Formats: sequence, C-alpha cells, structure tokens
Amino acid sequence: MTKKLYIQTLGCAMNERDSEHIIAELAQKERYDLTDDPKQADLILINTCSVREKPERKLFSEIGQFALHKKQGAKIGVCGCTASHLGGEIIKKSPHVDFVLGARNTSKITQVLHTPKAVEVDIDYDDSTYVFASPQTMGIKALLNISIGCDKKCSYCIVPFTRGKEISIPQDLLLNEARKLAAKGVKELLLLGQNVNNYGVRFSVPHEKVDFATLLHNLSEIDGIERLRFTSPHPLHMNDEFLAEFARNPKICKSIHIPLQSGSSKILKAMKRGYTKEWYLERVAKLREFCAREGREDVGISTDIIVGFPGESDADFEDTLDVARQVRFDTMYSFIYSPRPHTSAYNTESSLLVDSEVAKERLATLQNLHREILAQKSQDEIGRVVEVLVENHHKQERWSEGRSDHNRLIKIGNFVGDIGEIVRVKITNAQGGSLSGEVIAYA
Ligand code: SAH
Ligand code: SF4
Ligand code: F3S
Repeated sequence: MTKKLYIQTLGCAMNERDSEHIIAELAQKERYDLTDDPKQADLILINTCSVREKPERKLFSEIGQFALHKKQGAKIGVCGCTASHLGGEIIKKSPHVDFVLGARNTSKITQVLHTPKAVEVDIDYDDSTYVFASPQTMGIKALLNISIGCDKKCSYCIVPFTRGKEISIPQDLLLNEARKLAAKGVKELLLLGQNVNNYGVRFSVPHEKVDFATLLHNLSEIDGIERLRFTSPHPLHMNDEFLAEFARNPKICKSIHIPLQSGSSKILKAMKRGYTKEWYLERVAKLREFCAREGREDVGISTDIIVGFPGESDADFEDTLDVARQVRFDTMYSFIYSPRPHTSAYNTESSLLVDSEVAKERLATLQNLHREILAQKSQDEIGRVVEVLVENHHKQERWSEGRSDHNRLIKIGNFVGDIGEIVRVKITNAQGGSLSGEVIAYA
C-alpha cells in the first residue's frame, strides 16, 4: 500500500532540489505518494531555510499546527538548513518532531525515517557522489546540483554553516544525469550551486581538472538539452573565459544572476565579498561587451541586494542606488540585513547597527527605483524578437506563456502547438514589468 507524503519547501532552489530528491527517494524506496493535504499525510516534512531570521522563527509554530491537525501516527520530520543549524535542539523544543535531517545529509532520508528521534546534521558529510532516485514525472525544465556547500565566508551569511565546505559533483555524473533528463524530454537545465562558477575547485574523488566554462560547454553538447541556465555565479569568479563561453554558446540562456549585495566598496569589504564596486561594474561591462559582439545586446541581469548592513551610511546606500542605475537590473531580490548566528557580522557593536526604520526606508527607495527602471526597460523590449520556451498553454482561453532566453515572462496570444516548444516571439506590448507578444516563427 502506498503512503502519503506532504512536503513544505522554503528557501532557495537548492532546497527545492533537495525536496525533489527526497520525494524521489521516498517514492522509489518507501512507496510514498505526494499529497497537498497535510491532514491526509503519513509523513509531514518541513524543508527549512535559515538565511534570514523570520522564517526560522516561524518553524516551531508551524510544527505545532501540523501536529494539531495531522493523522494519528503520522510522522513529522524537519529537513534543510534550519535542521543543520538547530540540530537536536529542534526535537528538544518540540517533542512532535520524529527526526531532523540536515541540508548536507539529504541522501540519508530513508535511514532517518526508520530511526526514532534521529538527528543527522553532520556538515562534513559528503553525498556529492550519491546517485539519487529519479523522479517519476518530469517536466520540460529540471534542476541539477553541480556542487554542494560553500567555501566563502561572507560575513552576513549562515549558508557555509548549514551546508558545509564546497565540493563539486564529478563531471561524469552530471553528464550522465543530464543525458537521462534529456531522454525524458527535459529541454532546459538550471544548474545549481552557491558558487557555480567556482566549479571544479575540489572533488571528493580523483578527478581531471575542469572548470565551469568547460562544464557548460560539455553539457551544451548533449542532444535534446536546448537551454542551460545556472545560479548563482560569484562576481569574483567571473573570469573572461567564463564570460566568453557564456556569450558565444547559443544554448546558454542570455540571462545571468550576479549577486551584488551592496554597491559600496566599504560595505563589500565589511561583508567579505572580495570585490569592489568598480570590479563589479567592470565585469558587467565586459559581459555586455562580449554578448554584444555575438549580437546579443539584451542580456538579462538579475541580482541580490542587502540593505542596512552594519555601518551602511547614506553615502554607502547611495552607491548601491548608483550601481542599480548604471546596471539597470531586470530582476532584483532585495532584503533587509538580518543578523545570523555563527556569522562574523553577528556580534557587531551596536553603534554600527542601522536603525530598522532607516533600513525599511532604504529598501522601499531601492525597490521603487527598480520598478521605475524595469518599466522603462520593458518599453525598450517592444519590437524585439525573442526565443520563448512555452511552459503554459491554455487552448480554450487562447493564451500561452513562457520565458524568453533573457528570462522575461512573456504572454503569447496566438500560439498553436504544445508545451515545450521553442518559438520566436515579437514583443508587442509592455505594462509595468509584464510583457506580451505574438509568435512570428515556429522551430
Ligand atoms: N550563494 C549566493 C547566495 C545565497 S543566499 C551568493 O553568493 O549570492 C541568497 C541571498 O540571501 C544572498 O544573495 C543575500 O542577498 C541574502 N542573504 C544572505 N544572508 C542574509 C542575511 N543575513 N540578511 C539578509 N539577507 C541575506
Ligand atoms: Fe553565503 Fe557568500 Fe557563500 Fe553566497 S558566497 S552562500 S552569500 S557565504
Ligand atoms: Fe538556501 Fe536558505 Fe539554505 S537560501 S542554502 S535554503 S539557508
């Protein structure tokens, strides 16, 4: 008899990928089917994020809610980054929890399931060569982890303490997995890692020397894989070889996430990011120059920004606005600094802390600026012809939707065909940040 699994996933794409692995392992080895109703579930999993304080604070009230409404005998497990961070404390604080599985220990899911009160949170554990069960159903897009952990120690960030040191997954395993995915109909791969362009820095098995540009090139040679995306590269490792491969390889989508964090060189230094405002702007200029040489003026750039980092003055924040104006990001994820345990910025002296009202105002200013820039950029898109992978198709209502390779979501009015097709679309309309257009050619 099959059992039911309910899984709630918070956090980044790496957690999403870990959830996919857990679902596939439990389906294949323990006969669990997914349900979206926690009341029906035999197993409730919360896959958590620790990157900011708020979601972490909510964990215990969520466990309480699940415990109140769950089926009798149903188990509750806590996985992911908060599991790594709080470990056994979770079970001490909440007796409803049956096991705790750290973000670095995902491959042990079937073990902890059968070990009452198990706590598996070793951040030195290495499952970089573990081959997870395959998911039963597959769409046209898939996630693929290329490395685990992170060697950087950005002074605000808890991730190195929840996911451990950086290890790259052997290239052969990645190429095999990508071939399997292509055979199942996957057209677009999103490569995942905290520092994807540091790929090859260290393997846990003997391995030839290989860098990220080479990996991208080799993946792009696989028949059936039409598009490659990746997240996140680090500005420090954006060398010319990588930028050249990015610009010239037609299978690499012309959109890139380049986390800025701050536009002030002083704050970047305090954050231990390893680059300056000038370095960041120069790398972006080089990227655009390389892409323009290949006829691609429209490369999409997204970013992450933290406001209110300790010591951030009005002038520092002005530098962040200045970079936002110069780069004109297509997508911006912006956050107020949240102090995290273990990190080197955690115990900053109170005189450096930014008043929370000031931080909120800065966030609003930055987000307003971004909205204005995006609306202008969207107007510039009108008339452009872009390649779109159709992801949604509503025949009756006569509209479809997909992402352009420069990562804009585009509504299409006249598409006739099937999900998964790549078509050429002329952009005809822009409203705020939304774009729509018409198919002008099928593949
Ligand atoms: N490896 C990625 C980041 C992963 S964390 C990189 O280097 O860009 C995702 C984002 O969360 C970060 O880019 C940062 O903007 C944000 N973040 C991390 N720690 C934070 C903190 N303590 N407070 C607020 N935002 C934070
Ligand atoms: Fe965190 Fe920095 Fe590593 Fe990104 S590079 S995961 S921000 S420590
Ligand atoms: Fe991702 Fe959150 Fe962990 S951002 S790496 S799930 S702390």
